[in-house]
Amino acid sequence: MLIRHRPDLTDNDVTDRGLYLRRREFIAGAAGLGLAGLGGVASAAPLAFTKGFSTTEKPTPKNDITSYNNFYEFGVDKGDPAQNAGKLKTRPWTVRVDGACEAPRTFDIDELIKNKLEERIYRLRCVEGWSMVIPWVGFPLKDLIAAVKPTSKARFVAFETLMRPSEMTGQRWDVLQWPYREGLRIDEAVHPLTLIAVGLYGETLPNQNGAPLRLVVPWKYGFKSIKSITRISLVERQPPTAWNLSAPREYGFYSNVNPAVDHPRWSQATERRIGEFRRRDTLAFNGYGEWVADLYRGMDLKRNF
Ligand code: MTE
Repeated sequence: MLIRHRPDLTDNDVTDRGLYLRRREFIAGAAGLGLAGLGGVASAAPLAFTKGFSTTEKPTPKNDITSYNNFYEFGVDKGDPAQNAGKLKTRPWTVRVDGACEAPRTFDIDELIKNKLEERIYRLRCVEGWSMVIPWVGFPLKDLIAAVKPTSKARFVAFETLMRPSEMTGQRWDVLQWPYREGLRIDEAVHPLTLIAVGLYGETLPNQNGAPLRLVVPWKYGFKSIKSITRISLVERQPPTAWNLSAPREYGFYSNVNPAVDHPRWSQATERRIGEFRRRDTLAFNGYGEWVADLYRGMDLKRNF
């Protein structure tokens, strides 16, 4: 299903498009997602950040983005999700947003998709050492959070993937503790870069990429970007996360892309961009430091890896 027509992009188009989206975001700001309770929360504040949010790098071909995946609910090999995720029924689909908030609510995916969506072309860096450039379509997570009116106890956000072993056949094996879970600190979650993606390349998300909705946190290793979400909870304490539970010394809660902190079993200094031969240098915060480094001021990023 087509969400929005996507013209072929050149670098110049992307820049122009970025300007267009910024204006659009500004106009859309007060209305946000059109969700009750948003008020003016999301209005002018993000403008300073939105400059240059989309990279002008060439997007990875769609065929690579949709055939080289990590989605352990459908198998552990890169080709498994494309082969097996077709079984997943993505309708009906609801997302419960609850916890430390005044207006907990269950959202229907079709209601969310009808709201204002933007294209964001982001780099994705997997902890395994490969990367892609993906033209997502979605909306800022902060709009969803604002809609449920968080209380002061909302210090972290916990996310959960669907648990349905009849369709997610990988869940029949104990490769991870299911359901897949992830978490962010609240300031990371409401950062304007943090996206809920419902599409890529202008169309609804293919199942293997996390349909019908997934998180995208471009300055963190890809495993933080949890797929096929059914629950988002505002919580007081740092929530448990799937990869951290499985191997705490290898996968930290923060998992900001950091070329200076190696994985215990491999270097994180370089990466292989899918489609390229030569490895390229990995950038701190995956190149988004200008916008997010302040979130971690004073923190020891080697200890809080
Ligand atoms: N979400 C769930 N539910 N299950 C997973 O196995 N894999 C993560 C992340 N989100 C994963 C997940 C990892 S390791 C990466 S690198 C990205 O999804 C990959 O996203 P992509 O396949 O769309 O590129």
